[in-house]
Amino acid sequence: MPNRLDLPAGFRWGASTAAYQIEGAVEEGGRGPSVWDVFAARPGAVRDGHTGAVACDHYHRWPEDVALMRGLGLDGYRFSIAWPRIQPTGAGPVNPEGLAFYDRLVDALLTAGITPLPTLFHWDLPQALEETGGWLDRDTAYRFAEYTSEVVDRLGDRVPAWITLNEPFVHMVYGYALGIHAPGHALMLDALPAAHHQLLGHGLAAAVLREHGREVLIANNLTPVRPASDDPADVAAAEAYDALHNRLFTDPLLLGRYPDLSAFGIGEDLGGAVRDGDLELIAGPGLDGLGVNYYNPTRIAAPTDPGLPFAEAPIEGVPRTAFGWPVVPDGLRELLTGLRSRYGAALPPITITENGCSVADEPASDGTVLDPDRIAYLAGHLDALAAAVAEAVDVRGYYTWSLLDNYEWAEGFGQRFGLVHVDFETQVRTPKASYAWYRDLIAAHRERSVS
Ligand code: FCB
Repeated sequence: MPNRLDLPAGFRWGASTAAYQIEGAVEEGGRGPSVWDVFAARPGAVRDGHTGAVACDHYHRWPEDVALMRGLGLDGYRFSIAWPRIQPTGAGPVNPEGLAFYDRLVDALLTAGITPLPTLFHWDLPQALEETGGWLDRDTAYRFAEYTSEVVDRLGDRVPAWITLNEPFVHMVYGYALGIHAPGHALMLDALPAAHHQLLGHGLAAAVLREHGREVLIANNLTPVRPASDDPADVAAAEAYDALHNRLFTDPLLLGRYPDLSAFGIGEDLGGAVRDGDLELIAGPGLDGLGVNYYNPTRIAAPTDPGLPFAEAPIEGVPRTAFGWPVVPDGLRELLTGLRSRYGAALPPITITENGCSVADEPASDGTVLDPDRIAYLAGHLDALAAAVAEAVDVRGYYTWSLLDNYEWAEGFGQRFGLVHVDFETQVRTPKASYAWYRDLIAAHRERSVS
């Protein structure tokens, strides 16, 4: 069996974060309000009323955080750019202080030998754009391309590859269908235009990036879908769920068409959102890389509620993270080999842009933070990744979620995903045992690759 040390030479090791989850300083540097500031202030929206107003205070402590990355020996760092720092109202002139923040960060990363991999949209839409419809409004896609142009004009000379969107599926479902993330709409299937407009925004932004000769990726949350049994009703339900979660966001990018969503009563125009020429724009000349965020597989059974064509079924007999998510490392191999079978030559090289787990970590009395469950999670998933590579899936890198404990959206500070523990009262950073483990793995892999 291949293992993580067998990953190819040149394989890129990274860590990920996102702006609203770590930066804080929401009223500094000319930043405008985002949908997350407004949503988090709503009573009951986020566990314990937590907000990202301070988060990890990365806006002020970024030099320390870059030093932590350097200590790991990372090849790459995936972070996101806060649109409301660049355009406080989502349109019009840029805020020079906002751009300058990321400019300094990019230079510091390069000095540390770390390639920046920015995400242009990780859910923190300027609130002013929400007030004109957010991603339900087609115009937001055009605003996104304008914002992209401003950022790439400034940073593109030093940043070779860019991620347009983070997890358009999760943003559509949690933000627009169920209302458990910002902007908090509970539109159920009427949320589908938010999928199309995000993808259109991706297509328009990708064209801007290509004009600058930059590489284009998107980070999708993908899950292997397993039917609860081989009963045809369970199998049909699993297919419907797979179309909604996975194919809705990869078929248009890789095949230039939407999947069949007729099980949901949805036509090919996604509720009237799709116009002539949109799918050509979304697919463009192709992606330079597909970012895959993987956490767990999904088990699906025939529906119990008449409103949807599927029901989620529990995965039994496996460990669970502090979040309650099932731990199934081989699901990553299953996902990647499944993508290759489904898309064949249309599948671009893959980068794992997120993978990790939450653990209820607290420092021991001697100050150390031991997190054997995280180490086991990472080791298992990296071995599964090596198995997929041995089965000829082209995977170029792995960015663990996350560098730091941070603001976990609707869970507030209740879920810790970091290699580095953050005390949210004092902002003291303490590398966990998994930090040393990841550092040693990166060094051992590099040594093996050169010898
Ligand atoms: C993903 C998000 C990321 C983080 C992890 C745990 O869905 O992209 O911001 O919250 O989950």
